[in-house]
Amino acid sequence: MSRRPWLVTGGAGFIGSNFTLYARQVLGQPVVVLDKLTYAGNLSSLDPLRGDPDFTFVQGDIGDAALLADLFRTHRPAAIVHFAAESHVDRSLLGPRDFIDTNIVGTFTLLEAARQYQQTLPPEGHAVFRFLHVSTDEVYGSLTPEAAAFHERTPYAPNSPYSASKAASDHLVRAWHHSYGLPVLTTNCSNNYGPLQFPEKLIPLMLCKALAGEALPVYGDGLNVRDWLYVLDHCKGIARVLSQGQLGETYCIGGCNEQTNLSVVETLCQLLDERRPRADGLSYRQQIQFVADRPGHDRRYAIDASRMRDELGWQPEETFKTGLAKTVDWYLANEAWLQRVQSGAYRQWLQTQYGDQA
Ligand code: NAD
Ligand code: DAU
Repeated sequence: MSRRPWLVTGGAGFIGSNFTLYARQVLGQPVVVLDKLTYAGNLSSLDPLRGDPDFTFVQGDIGDAALLADLFRTHRPAAIVHFAAESHVDRSLLGPRDFIDTNIVGTFTLLEAARQYQQTLPPEGHAVFRFLHVSTDEVYGSLTPEAAAFHERTPYAPNSPYSASKAASDHLVRAWHHSYGLPVLTTNCSNNYGPLQFPEKLIPLMLCKALAGEALPVYGDGLNVRDWLYVLDHCKGIARVLSQGQLGETYCIGGCNEQTNLSVVETLCQLLDERRPRADGLSYRQQIQFVADRPGHDRRYAIDASRMRDELGWQPEETFKTGLAKTVDWYLANEAWLQRVQSGAYRQWLQTQYGDQA
């Protein structure tokens, strides 16, 4: 593997930080992280890499073309792994602007910078250079209960401002390959869970609220289905696509693990009951409360990851049972991290989204 670094955008976010730690600590790959440090980015997630000479952190925006040109000139990355995005559906419903700016215009700016950089590479650098775009299964829309799972040829049908902005970015990435020969790869993954996830997403939000003795707000009837994948399995899948994927192709990555939201929350309650029983001896299940549904809430996502398995030999190593137990243990052991990320802005978000139940 080349010793030139990977440029990881959004590397202080949930999946990006897990990927950066995996790249440095397991693969020994030098990494430069570019992250704007929005509310969702936490530099403390990268604390284990402090003082590591093969790790560089740069605070900045993927929409800043001058900064990107400077970064490419200075670090001459072997690959770009593009995680940076606004990623939360509920926030996209309340304020879509940032999603358009970062997910669409930011990705466009990054693609242009990568294209210009590619032209400066010698033939051997040209041959190995990659732009891996990390995307989501939400671009495919919503499945009925009996429909076959999403796969690489499923037509796009995004339903939220978030998924529409990710779909737009996927199309830009595809076009930069087709029109300009940029060596791109795209991954479309299902819901991730695991350490270092910001507590606005279902699993860490419910953990925080359960421990704080607050209501656990399940949207609608709780029967929406997601396909959950442990974050480290996703990171390994991305590394596999980066090293073995076919240029211009897309890869669907999923957990083969469909669960209703209610069942996820109940399993979490059970794990907490075992590990940190409530003082009154009752189950955390008592705290479950059904609340108004998310507007336009996609009913079901599921991924057919057979291409990853058959062509790249990848499959999830973690079961939902082992992955969720590891996740709960991590949050219980890292309450300081959790405290740090729950700033005033976070409390304000809870108030806006959940009102009096916050
Ligand atoms: P996240 O919200 O936890 O992290 C996003 C990171 O991007 C943050 O560190 C943030 O500071 C940074 N960022 C935002 N705008 C930026 C900008 N303009 N310039 C530079 N940095 C910026 O997101 P995540 O859950 O880690 O998701 C990472 C990627 O994976 C996203 O592209 C998302 O669409 C995709 N994805 C996520 C999931 C999931 O379940 N979380 C599943 C499939 C795909
Ligand atoms: O499918 C991949 C996508 O998964 C990623 O592209 C997104 O970046 C990521 O945020 C995630 O999107 P979801 O909308 O599926 O994740 P979220 O954790 O917000 O919600 C999961 C399910 O739980 C969803 O059906 C809504 C429900 N939910 C969520 C919250 C925050 C609740 O019932 N109550 C809640 O308070």
